[in-house]
Amino acid sequence: MKVLDTEFVRGFIQLGDDGWKQGWHERNGGNLSCRIRPEEIGEVKDQLTPGEWLDIGTSVPKLGGEYFLVTGTGRYFQNVARKPEESFGIVELDGAGEKYRICWGLTNGGRPTSELPSHLMNHEVKLVASGGRHRVIYHCHPVNTIALTFVLPLKDEVFTRELWEMMTECPVVFPEGVGVVDWMVPGGRDIAVATSELMKKYNVAIWAHHGMFCSGADFDETFGLMHTVEKAAEILVKVLSMGQGKRQTIEPGDFRELAKDFKVELDEKFLYER
Ligand code: 13P
Ligand code: ZN
Repeated sequence: MKVLDTEFVRGFIQLGDDGWKQGWHERNGGNLSCRIRPEEIGEVKDQLTPGEWLDIGTSVPKLGGEYFLVTGTGRYFQNVARKPEESFGIVELDGAGEKYRICWGLTNGGRPTSELPSHLMNHEVKLVASGGRHRVIYHCHPVNTIALTFVLPLKDEVFTRELWEMMTECPVVFPEGVGVVDWMVPGGRDIAVATSELMKKYNVAIWAHHGMFCSGADFDETFGLMHTVEKAAEILVKVLSMGQGKRQTIEPGDFRELAKDFKVELDEKFLYER
């Protein structure tokens, strides 16, 4: 089957295009990766033309030998659907998980996203934490979530609680909460280590003054998580902008009742008294 006709590539393109339409990807902002299943790579093996081995910039030994779909550095999400071969590609990792090579796509001198270290370290953490279930890592620049990083304390507890309060379904969609990374230089190993540490506990990591990373089992779950967090952030921005504070809200006791009925575990550290 042609690479572009496979279900996993079509799902990748769909997510990229949906993210673009949400306004989460100005210019080349954001990046997306997916750990490809052996049977999926089997469908396209005849079209792979491996290039030279290049350094990842970190080491992900548990991912040695795996194949990934990944967006290109400097490439625009706007073009993921319009010029797919140029916008993303398939890369293979070496056995040690220290090098990669481009096997398909990223035409015209393309290279994987500058956030490849963060993507791969998150994938490695999630491989263990989710027992192999999670396959998608998604980074974007959503307006409201970024705006909140200028006014809320950069603490997991505060972001989680404030976002949960904005929509009743939030604690059901992300019961583990969200993590927050202080401002750091993007694109390197240090921010990748900080993010992957948070990904051991959460499926969402917010980068102060930059954007958000989400992890999920498939494209729908990952996009849905990003969408839910960003929508809650939008409501909070509106509430804060109205200037009078919250007159009423969902209280810690309400969350405990919700947790019982919806059979989710909510860590008491998020249910602090104000
Ligand atoms: P890339 O173009 O290298 O993917 O970078 C975009 C980005 O959002 C960096 O954080
Ligand atoms: Zn970014």
